[in-house]
Amino acid sequence: MPALVIVGAQWGDEGKGKITDFLAASADAVVRYQGGGNAGHTLVVDKQQYKLHLVPSGVLRPGKECILGNGMVIDLEALAAELAELAQRKVEGFRLLVSASAHLILPYHRMLDALEEERKGSERIGTTGMGIGPAYRDKVNRIGIRVGDCARPHVFAHKLEVNRRHKEELLGRDAIDWDGLRDRQLELFEQLRSYVGDASGRINTLLDKGRRVLFEGAQGTFLDLDHGTYPFVTSSTPTAGGACVGSGIGPSRIDAVIGVSKAYTTRVGAGPFPTELTGEEGELLVQRGNEYGTTTGRKRRCGWLDLVALRRAVRVNGLRGLALSKLDVLDGFDRIRLCTGYRIGGQVVESYPDDPWMLEGIEPVYQDLPGWQRSTSRIERWDDLPAEARAYVRMIEQQAGAAVQLISVGAERGCTIVREDPWNVA
Ligand code: IMP
Repeated sequence: MPALVIVGAQWGDEGKGKITDFLAASADAVVRYQGGGNAGHTLVVDKQQYKLHLVPSGVLRPGKECILGNGMVIDLEALAAELAELAQRKVEGFRLLVSASAHLILPYHRMLDALEEERKGSERIGTTGMGIGPAYRDKVNRIGIRVGDCARPHVFAHKLEVNRRHKEELLGRDAIDWDGLRDRQLELFEQLRSYVGDASGRINTLLDKGRRVLFEGAQGTFLDLDHGTYPFVTSSTPTAGGACVGSGIGPSRIDAVIGVSKAYTTRVGAGPFPTELTGEEGELLVQRGNEYGTTTGRKRRCGWLDLVALRRAVRVNGLRGLALSKLDVLDGFDRIRLCTGYRIGGQVVESYPDDPWMLEGIEPVYQDLPGWQRSTSRIERWDDLPAEARAYVRMIEQQAGAAVQLISVGAERGCTIVREDPWNVA
């Protein structure tokens, strides 16, 4: 079965990069279908750390096709820099294809991102500052500029002129050197031109041939524009449906969806977070889990695993399988808490409220489980995990309604316990 979608089941940073890299070993191609440089996927291979923002996490597996789908927003400057760094570190042997229909992030998008956050004051979202929202807004507003537009300089220049009028109203007349911007974008495009093409056509051809294609979601379910904690979300569709729109395949081509969840919860940026721990236990999770953003370096907010939210992620993504990451971070806790319900206005509910503002006033209902007092970080087999850790995982799958297929107990590739191969059940 060839098409597997991997999504974040929380607020991003679940460890999708590592799981994607692991599953990419058996894939022919890996496709990113939304987002842009706001994503930060950290991979550790042979003790070397790699931080990817735009290129799919299959890049560290030689021979794989790495495809940037039409649903992405791409800063060519950042893409060229990422490719240069990979080349410098001798990461070679992958084939890159960038959809001509993906939209460009241009310098004015970053400026607008910063300006809008400033104007929002206390209502600010805490964006990554990469210009993601403004670029998607231009796309929806039908004044966006696509990667393929650069192939015809006069078209590109015309579209830039349309934007100039629009952006000068917002940023002022002298904020941008328009000629310099145009020349630099065209120069970057020339550098990257050989990678640009029809990504949807290629992906469908691969699937027609029975090849295995992995669709790598960035961010996570609760940062989804529709299904997340709106307005504290990103501007794209990280949930599984986005894989179709953002890569140009039909829904019937998808065989399975796997969701990645940490064994606890983290979130960066503002917005509701029902199980957030602001005291000592939260700080312990930050330190043990090294919870600092890959893209912005910001400290992540940490809390216990929220099964109410996870059930919702299972529902909106159609998850059958889960990959549980960073289980080893919970080693040594006397007691581990799982949020099984929310108390809202004196009543306990087990399903996630559709109105995210209701999350502000809720009190999590916890079930406590005993922790385990030994390290799990070198364990390779399910049966070798401490009994308490197995009980913890079983409780998660029973409550979430999806099988925990993979368990990650460390950053290296080898630190992955396979209970069920997601490709086989796809
Ligand atoms: P934007 O995507 O930069 O517009 O940011 C919108 C929200 O999504 C902010 O709360 C960011 O912190 C969050 N966000 C965006 N990308 C990621 C990610 O890859 N991991 C975690 N949070 C993210």
